[in-house]
Amino acid sequence: MRTKILIDCDPGHDDAVAILYAAKHLDLVGVTTCHGNNTIENVTRNALSVLTLAGLVVPLAQGCADPLVGRKALVVNAHGKSGLDGTDLPEPDRAPVAAHAVDFLIDMASTHRGELVLAVIGPATNVALAIKKEPRFASWLREITVMGGSTALGNITPVAEYNVWCDPEAAAEMFACGAPIRMAGYNVTSVTGTNEADVNRLLGGGRVARHMGELLAFYLGKQRDRFGFDIAPMHDVCAIVPYAQEGLIEYRPCHVDVELNGRLTRGMTVCDLRTLTPQGRADRGVGEANALVAIRTEARRLIDHVVATVLSYS
Ligand code: BDR
Ligand code: CA
Repeated sequence: MRTKILIDCDPGHDDAVAILYAAKHLDLVGVTTCHGNNTIENVTRNALSVLTLAGLVVPLAQGCADPLVGRKALVVNAHGKSGLDGTDLPEPDRAPVAAHAVDFLIDMASTHRGELVLAVIGPATNVALAIKKEPRFASWLREITVMGGSTALGNITPVAEYNVWCDPEAAAEMFACGAPIRMAGYNVTSVTGTNEADVNRLLGGGRVARHMGELLAFYLGKQRDRFGFDIAPMHDVCAIVPYAQEGLIEYRPCHVDVELNGRLTRGMTVCDLRTLTPQGRADRGVGEANALVAIRTEARRLIDHVVATVLSYS
């Protein structure tokens, strides 16, 4: 049976790829949106347009506009003015469902008790509020798979990755919620990206692939200009791939906590990699593992598989 998955996202170029990938390989039961790469209105419209482009009949609920603490920080980022620049996506052919994302998440977790994988590929605000509102929420999930954090460098600060930095308090709630967690952090996702040849393959494909090729050409250009990268990291799909294709990402059990107070380190995921002895564990001072943390990726194989998936849309 295909894994049931719900994607909480903020499209975002790599979010768009993650949605298409999940819909092809898994049982995508819903999408929720969260502030992050752009305003809640824009990321919701972007997500609906991606569903419309690919003809995916999946319910979508709009979520939080701001983090748990303070207001959403407006950051000029790699996704352009709209949050999904680079192509003319179709106008959405539907509206979000009436329920708020927090209630929708609770409802879906309850309906699919023990079966649902929740993919969190934007800030964790909706998830943290669902945990607070329904104390059984985390126990109803099969697993939470996260694109966020890093075992090493950050992207928005030297030590913080964007999704966690956007709402560190929410991420801390999520990592402490007790559900099994899989974390694909910037340490692996930043080296797992599409290059110019991948973009050209997409541009030579069908209608959906051509739109994605135009989007990823824009995203690659931004990565080149801003960071000097020759790949565009497909951060978000890394959180989804393990449910369809095993062996492309290697994980290790690890204790993860989120720094909330540091003047220079707020939003850092502190990953206790002292578990990484040759024997796979350390003998002292190591907190109990609350997550499987990605430490290595078969980047080229993974990207080929993802590009082939996008090309398989007509
Ligand atoms: C994360 O931040 C967003 O810009 C991407 O969509 C991804 O979820 C990478 O740090
Ligand atoms: Ca994202």
